[in-house]
Amino acid sequence: MSAKPSVFVTRKLPDAVLARLEKGYTVDLNLDDRLYSSDEIVERAQNADAILPCHTEHFTAELVARLPECVKIVANFSVGVDHCDLNALAAKGIVVTNTPDVLSDATAETAMLVMLGAARRASEGERMMRDGSWKSWSPAFMVGTAITGKTLGIIGMGRVGQTLARCARGFEMDIIYYNRTRLSPDLEQGAVYYDNLDDVLPKCDVLSLNCPVTDETRGFFNEERINQLSPGTIFVNTARGALVDEAALVAALKSGHIAAAGLDVYINEPGGNLDLAALPNTFLLPHIGSANKETRDAMGFRALDNLDAYFAGNPPGDRVA
Ligand code: DGY
Repeated sequence: MSAKPSVFVTRKLPDAVLARLEKGYTVDLNLDDRLYSSDEIVERAQNADAILPCHTEHFTAELVARLPECVKIVANFSVGVDHCDLNALAAKGIVVTNTPDVLSDATAETAMLVMLGAARRASEGERMMRDGSWKSWSPAFMVGTAITGKTLGIIGMGRVGQTLARCARGFEMDIIYYNRTRLSPDLEQGAVYYDNLDDVLPKCDVLSLNCPVTDETRGFFNEERINQLSPGTIFVNTARGALVDEAALVAALKSGHIAAAGLDVYINEPGGNLDLAALPNTFLLPHIGSANKETRDAMGFRALDNLDAYFAGNPPGDRVA
């Protein structure tokens, strides 16, 4: 290892993060912000002690097998780590970290944004204003659904889920949740726990996914689960598209069983899902849940804290493998 550890950074990071990074490390930067292929990742990793990637780079078992022995740590600029084969990385002795906590507020803000956007038909209204097709007003015009005082079901009551619950309480929503484990009463803040997903789904007016993608949760929101919702439920997903069977979601939105969906994440990214985009009752964003300046800086600093700890010989605070 050289005096300064070398870090291969796969995407363009915020200026303040790069400034701090360059003080402590020899860096290989991607200032053009181009998405590297697997071959390019392997090639650029040849001299790296560490890689600092985003969720856009997929560390599959095949890619991990091709990484050189010099790579000791993958310090992700993301809280989600479903783009990493953690078993393959751990088997190779590569430490993996993420950036929890710092994006909970931003992601919860985005969940509220898409929830309101879906419930109040914001996409339809906005399009109408842009294409000049707003021609009349009447009591029956653009009528959506209230969220104030309704029941919000949260699947995955981690940091983002808890922050969303706090925001939703500002709209006097009743919170029910499903999580692997029940929270302590001080964290629950009155939210009602169900140890069975089947009990949550029929009780929600709005359902929000806030859980990670794992072998257990991949594709769990499928036709069968959708049919358990009460008709007219509003669906929100700011976690990961891979949690959802998108064809089943499209069918439920077409039939009206799900009244509207507010989504920030898709199975296919970038790009999204054109069947969802063709529907009037969707409010869609391009995976920008954590995209504000403060949060992106904080994510970068958190990734650097993990690198600093590792290269100082200490356990990184956010180790996930
Ligand atoms: C995350 O941190 O997981 C966000 O989805 C952005 O990558």
